[in-house]
Amino acid sequence: MDKKIGFIGAGKMATALIAGLRKTGYDSSCLWASSPTHKHLETLKNQWDIQINTDNMAVAAQADILILAVKPKDLTGVLNQLKSIIQPKKTIIISLVAGINAAFILDNLGKETKLCRAMPNLPVQSCKGITALWMNTSICPTDKTWIESIFQSVGDVVFLEQEKEINAVTALSGSGPAYFFLFMQALEEAGIALGLSADLSHALTLKTAFGSAQMAIESSSDFNQLCLEVAPQGGGTEQAIQALKSAAFMPLILTAVQSAKSRYDDILSEQQFPLPS
Ligand SMILES: NC(=O)c1ccc[n+]([C@@H]2O[C@H](COP(=O)([O-])OP(=O)(O)OC[C@H]3O[C@@H](n4cnc5c(N)ncnc54)[C@H](OP(=O)(O)O)[C@@H]3O)[C@@H](O)[C@H]2O)c1
Repeated sequence: MDKKIGFIGAGKMATALIAGLRKTGYDSSCLWASSPTHKHLETLKNQWDIQINTDNMAVAAQADILILAVKPKDLTGVLNQLKSIIQPKKTIIISLVAGINAAFILDNLGKETKLCRAMPNLPVQSCKGITALWMNTSICPTDKTWIESIFQSVGDVVFLEQEKEINAVTALSGSGPAYFFLFMQALEEAGIALGLSADLSHALTLKTAFGSAQMAIESSSDFNQLCLEVAPQGGGTEQAIQALKSAAFMPLILTAVQSAKSRYDDILSEQQFPLPS
């Protein structure tokens, strides 16, 4: 029998995780989700046959593992609801919420709460995600195994020694799929500009991205060496790489990822000291 997992919030990330878990055979009777409206809940029920409820407390009451999958702005309200029903030493809380640290959650739920902060990315829906996990000291080895097995079933898992690394992880792999999609859009549009059909350009872009990632996974070379393999001196690829580098491609990516991280760094203070509306 699988552990009972309750999702508080039924948006994009909860849906992606539920899809991944169901695709790997997780028992649908052990998956619950709550959300204030039926908007996403009905879709989840119809597609994955999970249990749904508009009452967070009803989901929290029966969960062994409770996954917080709401936006940061909605977390305080959710924690206020949950604190009367959570048994701190029993229920495992997994927060997916970007930018909200453990201290904030434990202040609301109790210091002894078993807490894991998890940072997955949306490819979990295809069981190809990468999830970074940080856990507090109330999590015992058995809990750790349960948590790891949930995220391993939808992709790879890395463990963080320090909670403070999470915002950088969020900026890299949490947000990362969007960067790759943008690059793929640019490549597809370039193909069309060169006279290829939209369908052909789309297919070439997609398979090139997929094949390159697979090749990098299987290779012992670093990204620079792999780039050089495709871009011998004097060839067309080298010219393209030089064009990207002289347009400050590498520093631009750094600026983009830094700006994502600084956004995540700001979230906590906005919850503690909300901006006037
Ligand atoms: N999306 C990503 O790629 C990604 C990656 C890593 C981490 N995360 C984190 O995952 C969390 C969820 O992100 P998301 O992209 O899934 O957001 P989302 O699509 O906006 O989903 C949020 C969900 O929370 C529900 N909700 C709002 N208030 C609630 C309440 N009081 N009680 C219960 N549910 C409530 C919303 O319901 P309604 O739709 O009915 O308002 C919606 O179903 C965020 O904290 C984010 O930082 C997301």
